[in-house]
Amino acid sequence: MTIKITYHGHACFEIRTDEANLLIDPFLSGNSMADVSPDEVSADYILISHAHGDHLGDAVPIAKRTGATVISNFEIHNYMAAQGIPAHPMHIGGAHTFPFGKVKLTIAHHGSSFPDGSYGGNPCGFLLWLEGKVIYFAGDTALTYDMTLYGAEGIDVAMLPIGDNFTMGPEDAVKAVGFLQPKTAILMHYNTFGVITQDATAVAEAIRTQTSAQPVIMMPGETMVV
Ligand code: NI
Ligand code: MN
Repeated sequence: MTIKITYHGHACFEIRTDEANLLIDPFLSGNSMADVSPDEVSADYILISHAHGDHLGDAVPIAKRTGATVISNFEIHNYMAAQGIPAHPMHIGGAHTFPFGKVKLTIAHHGSSFPDGSYGGNPCGFLLWLEGKVIYFAGDTALTYDMTLYGAEGIDVAMLPIGDNFTMGPEDAVKAVGFLQPKTAILMHYNTFGVITQDATAVAEAIRTQTSAQPVIMMPGETMVV
């Protein structure tokens, strides 16, 4: 009953349990931080937080190659279903128990248009209950006080954006850790583009000194066991 979390750069994570292999926001081709190509990753389920190109990424070719089911909002579900890709539609505040565990869509203050400008529904984050652990993937979001509600779930691992400009920056990310009170905080969504360049080591140090969480900086390709 272990959970292995592998970082593939930007906001892409692979979460492997005994039950299933989950891939979140598979932006790999065109991602300067990615350690794998879309042809190499495996997935039983692909979770997509919103339709922006740096999150939708290579979801379509990966789903077609692997047969993975996409879990996302209703509009992204429709986009996948129209291409014959198995998809499970959800929306913010809703939870569903899958064979591998429970997924709940959380609020993300952001946008969600597809790369061609068409409507991609509301952006979201994910709360995951897997193998007795609680994982929170914030997605692209501003700091929001709703994070205190998610923190009440007893989060083991939180993945939080720190890049600023498009999402929370370092100062708000530290506040988010205070709201969420996770055991471990993994930093994401930074250094991929010039405008989101951050000193992750400094952010980790701020989290270490100002909160009770253990900050983790993952290199692309690195795996941690939860
Ligand atoms: Ni975005
Ligand atoms: Mn993004």
